[in-house]
Amino acid sequence: MLRTRICNIELRNPTMLAAGVMGSMASSLNRVYRAGAGAVVTKSFSLEPNEGYKNPTTVEVTGGIINAIGLSNPGVDAFKEELRGVDDDVPLIASIYGSSPEEFARVAASVEEYVDMIELNVSCPHAMAGCGASIGQDASLTFRVVSAVKDVVGVPVSTKLTPNVTDIVEIAKSAEDAGSDALTLINSLGPGMKIDIKTAKPVLSNAFGGMSGPAIKPVAVRCVYDVYRNVEIPLIGVGGVRDFRDAVEFLFAGAVAVQVGTAIMYDGPEIFMRICRGLEGFMIERGFSSVDEMVGLAHEGR
Ligand SMILES: Cc1cc2nc3c(=O)[nH]c(=O)nc-3n(C[C@H](O)[C@H](O)[C@H](O)COP(=O)(O)O)c2cc1C
Repeated sequence: MLRTRICNIELRNPTMLAAGVMGSMASSLNRVYRAGAGAVVTKSFSLEPNEGYKNPTTVEVTGGIINAIGLSNPGVDAFKEELRGVDDDVPLIASIYGSSPEEFARVAASVEEYVDMIELNVSCPHAMAGCGASIGQDASLTFRVVSAVKDVVGVPVSTKLTPNVTDIVEIAKSAEDAGSDALTLINSLGPGMKIDIKTAKPVLSNAFGGMSGPAIKPVAVRCVYDVYRNVEIPLIGVGGVRDFRDAVEFLFAGAVAVQVGTAIMYDGPEIFMRICRGLEGFMIERGFSSVDEMVGLAHEGR
């Protein structure tokens, strides 16, 4: 009943691990899949190793967390070892980033043989200059990054969008026009910050970071709803999903699958099984026989 497809990739259910949480090692990617996720997304990686920011890199706030990890990763060559270690039956999505269309294309080409899909992180709100949201806030740069990757890979590509723009539909359309096969929305919101009132200093070493968790869900659902009305390609919803009701909202808004990030820090990887059981119960109770029947229902009659 929960089986679904995105860009011709068969998923046993519509839940996915979001980029950046438990996605740095093959062992944890395998573990999250065994715990029930329908697919897993790696932590974002780049051509060269990147140390990221100093600690503290995360802080809890009301309704979620703020993080500025700084896209730390060991670089594509080392990351390939982890990709090789992911079990064959696990639908695997590589999240990649770079500072230019050419860099994105080089990373994508060198990992496509190991993965089922590539997700382009053009949306991190606290990345170094020239990376992350500074790309995804510019429609023509987004177009060039997506085109460069699509020119060199055969696997489907999803472009992960930032909510921190004036008009997310404009960016979504430029990614679609450039050939993106799907869109993932949204990356963390902000940047935001927290100040320690004892020291009168920002808590995070980078001062600012991206907000994630339950508090951002209404923004994420609105982004999915808004983009669904304006593009043809499938949408993957992410932002604040913690139980099956959240997943249902995203499906009704127009997503074909949902990713889960911050909630894993609260509830552990078992959260995937719980969301799937709850979703199945909801579908039986409401007479839905497939996930597809639920996608975009919030738009009917509007
Ligand atoms: C600790 C942490 C690290 C993250 N790292 C990445 C990353 O490497 N690449 C990326 O595209 N998104 C990253 N994200 C964003 C998540 O994938 C997701 O888009 C966002 O957190 C909203 O979903 P959530 O509320 O379920 O966490 C990260 C989020 C968190 C909390």
